[in-house]
Amino acid sequence: MGNKLLDNVITMDPFLNKKIFDMVSYATKNRVGTTIHSNLNYSTEEMARKAVESGLTHVYLSIDGATQETYASYRVMGNLDKVIDNLKTLVRVKKEMGSKLPLITWKYLVFEHNKHEVGMAKKMAAEIGVDSTEVFNGTLVPFDIYDEAIYYQERNDLIEQKVGNQCRSLWTSVYINLNGGVYPCSLAYRDTEVFGNIHDLSFRDTWNGDLYRNARMLFSNPENADHVPVPCIACKYCLKLNPSKFKPIYSAKVVQAE
Ligand SMILES: C[S@@+](CC[C@H](N)C(=O)[O-])C[C@H]1O[C@@H](n2cnc3c(N)ncnc32)[C@H](O)[C@@H]1O
Ligand code: SF4
Repeated sequence: MGNKLLDNVITMDPFLNKKIFDMVSYATKNRVGTTIHSNLNYSTEEMARKAVESGLTHVYLSIDGATQETYASYRVMGNLDKVIDNLKTLVRVKKEMGSKLPLITWKYLVFEHNKHEVGMAKKMAAEIGVDSTEVFNGTLVPFDIYDEAIYYQERNDLIEQKVGNQCRSLWTSVYINLNGGVYPCSLAYRDTEVFGNIHDLSFRDTWNGDLYRNARMLFSNPENADHVPVPCIACKYCLKLNPSKFKPIYSAKVVQAE
């Protein structure tokens, strides 16, 4: 898979998985970049060292508040002091080991209850020495590929402005879940959206298989939309490319993942 980016997204926290950095090392040895998302409540100095040694490319840290009270409103029972200590340890260890990686991003999800602390969080992040801060809108309900497309369908004025002409995920990243399911992007996660399973077929064959090839062809030949798998046929890119072929399938507001 060359230099492609492998994202390891799990619904729990990657630092809870004792083998996470063995997996990252394996990816690094095979020239695959890695990104993890963590709340950093469970990190230790030893894990910070392993993270750096493994060659991890990028870690996004979900820290959605700058005071304990605000932080714990969403991260219930989370301990902000501990998270900040763990973050300082990671920054220090990376420096001691003379490594530029992993890139560290403080990711702040904004809700009504915490929007007043964005500035304070950015200041803390700069003082600690993280590489970047990113602020995203938090969503109050599960949000998936269909909700995103429907959002743009309802806000047609935003499509030209915000939605690119081509999906990059189909060429640059992959999501593999705990059961070996291979998914094309982070907002597609239902059983019906799986592109393969690494326990049944090698990753190489899945990556080069019919589902992936058809989905990629959506962008070279929009007419191919008739052969494109769920969920790509129902995502914002299909909506932009070919509104007549766009098929919104579910809404997460009424249909659960199982
Ligand atoms: C479900 S979390 C799991 C990984 C890790 N345990 C964590 O807390 O970041 C994966 C990503 O979802 C994002 N996320 C969590 N709640 C969200 C919400 N309500 N709206 C939008 N994104 C959310 C987090 O910021 C994180 O980047
Ligand atoms: S669902 Fe959309 S964003 Fe995801 S891989 Fe398919 S075309 Fe790309």
